[in-house]
Amino acid sequence: MLKIRDAREEDLPRLGQLVENYKFRREPPRPGELDRLKTVLRESLEQPRTRLLVADDTDRGVMGYLCLHILPFPLLRGREAYVTDLLVDYPERNTGAGTALLDTAVGLARREGCLRLMLNNFREAESYRRGFYARRGWRERTEFANFIRILDGPDRP
Ligand SMILES: CC(C)(COP(=O)(O)OP(=O)(O)OC[C@H]1O[C@@H](n2cnc3c(N)ncnc32)[C@H](O)[C@@H]1OP(=O)(O)O)[C@@H](O)C(=O)NCCC(=O)NCCS
Repeated sequence: MLKIRDAREEDLPRLGQLVENYKFRREPPRPGELDRLKTVLRESLEQPRTRLLVADDTDRGVMGYLCLHILPFPLLRGREAYVTDLLVDYPERNTGAGTALLDTAVGLARREGCLRLMLNNFREAESYRRGFYARRGWRERTEFANFIRILDGPDRP
């Protein structure tokens, strides 16, 4: 049975493994990257306004995770929830874990009084091509340009 719950300390190694499986499939990590991953996972667990959710199956264990940040947004005149990460491990895809994580995040954001949720989806990603978010009620915003300014890191997430 699939359960969505908050991540715990003991989930961190598995979450690190999920990210490694996804990110370092084609190119190996750069120096220091694995340490930064550990640090940022712990930070996500400890930040009061950040929720790290896991999809935990009785038989298969932790299949995926979602990271949600609650952000005060004065110009919006309220709070926005930002989904930075949604990831399900390759062998576990297409069994409903991603949808369950996303539904839980929407419910949480609502309970936190957020006015809306936001996320980025790489246009070349399979999930974008398959219209994963559009099919689940999310609207693609074409009226905004998405800017980043690189400080010290890759030009892609
Ligand atoms: C997108 C993702 C989270 C979906 O998780 P999932 O548990 O497989 O999703 P579900 O089983 O709940 O739903 C199946 C949907 O996933 C999508 N999907 C299925 N296999 C996929 C794959 N190999 N890659 C990407 N998306 C896939 C399809 O859109 C399918 O939607 P449909 O039912 O509307 O056709 C997962 O495929 C993933 O981790 N992809 C890589 C990371 C990513 O793209 N994250 C989103 C950007 S932030």
